[in-house]
Amino acid sequence: MAKNIAVVGMQFGDEGKGKIIDFLAESADVVARFNGGNNAGHTIQVNDETIISHLIPSGILHKETINIIGNGLVVDPKVLMQEIENLRIKGVKVTPDNLAVSENAHIILENHIKEDKEKNKHLDTTARGIGPAYTDKAARKGLRVVDYITKNNEFSKKLSPFVKNTTLLINNLIDKNKKILFEGAQGTLLDIDHGTYPYVTSSNAVSGGICTGLGIGPKKIGNVLGIAKAYITRVGSGPLPTELKDDAGKQLQETGKEFGATTGRARRCGWFDALIGNYSVMVNGLDAIALIKLDVLSGLERIKICVGYKYKNKIIKNFTANLEILENCEPIYEELPGWKEKLDNVKSFKELPENAKKYIKRIEELLGVPVCIVSIGPERNQTIVLRKEFLF
Ligand code: IMP
Repeated sequence: MAKNIAVVGMQFGDEGKGKIIDFLAESADVVARFNGGNNAGHTIQVNDETIISHLIPSGILHKETINIIGNGLVVDPKVLMQEIENLRIKGVKVTPDNLAVSENAHIILENHIKEDKEKNKHLDTTARGIGPAYTDKAARKGLRVVDYITKNNEFSKKLSPFVKNTTLLINNLIDKNKKILFEGAQGTLLDIDHGTYPYVTSSNAVSGGICTGLGIGPKKIGNVLGIAKAYITRVGSGPLPTELKDDAGKQLQETGKEFGATTGRARRCGWFDALIGNYSVMVNGLDAIALIKLDVLSGLERIKICVGYKYKNKIIKNFTANLEILENCEPIYEELPGWKEKLDNVKSFKELPENAKKYIKRIEELLGVPVCIVSIGPERNQTIVLRKEFLF
């Protein structure tokens, strides 16, 4: 059994990390976020209630779990207070005992949001001020939470009790053998260093971001779990080699309800890209994969997996962040037979249609890591665990 687990997105965000984090959070003592801000949006389905959190870690729904917003985040104080309020209205306990905000996280100010809206249209950002806040941080003219609460009276009273030295807090919790769940936001291909730059976010979404975004050593991370949809989606601009611009893409979009949790924008859809999958395995050092929304593929006659890019008569087998190649390549596909059956009520791997099993096995072969979870619907009980050893 793993002691600590990191959950990171293997594609362009929106892989369904929220659901898996919520599933794992049940057994975690601590859930800690290390990057991004309220550009993220986790939709969690609990019974018939849909809860969307943008900033507060998903562990907040579990009574005993401590939630940490690490130094690697940018925090919009208004959004944070509003989320706390909304959760309280739904009867969720949020106190300084179960939520800690790093004093070293940076503040998103009004001017950051304004600048994001005005100047970053071409990047199709979430317009939450994320990029401009990180820009000021790197330029050493940002405002940290600790400085903000000493300068701003309106929020300081409300925010101060939550503000802590979270580096010390998390390292102490690790020393006490607490089970830590590291909650990634966005995805590997949106990482500022490893993604499809400049169509990326402004933080490190890969597992390496955990060390800098929380102040812990790499050996403390434990198992790294990658989350991937059984197909691929991207919201906003930027290359997506396997994008389907025809009816098949529309079908995935509609069946998969592919509309953003943060901005409501329709997500572009395409086939599973094994080059991106392999790249994510490498960059994050993945131990295992959770394959999400397999149910969305039900009813398709044939399912394709991209196994190479053809560019100027050359076959490329490894992902590259070269935009010229990504935008102009032709995907090379392997085709697998589909399955007709709906998967909503499947309870175990054994019960899956044979062709669904073959699809999972083929992804495991291509990526060289085991699939430990398959998700077949939004509910907590629509989660099939294939390999417990990677989980808490
Ligand atoms: P920003 O993070 O708002 O600066 O946006 C930069 C890019 O990342 C845009 O293409 C956004 O759509 C994308 N992005 C940011 N956060 C998420 C997310 O949580 N899911 C999916 N896409 C995201």
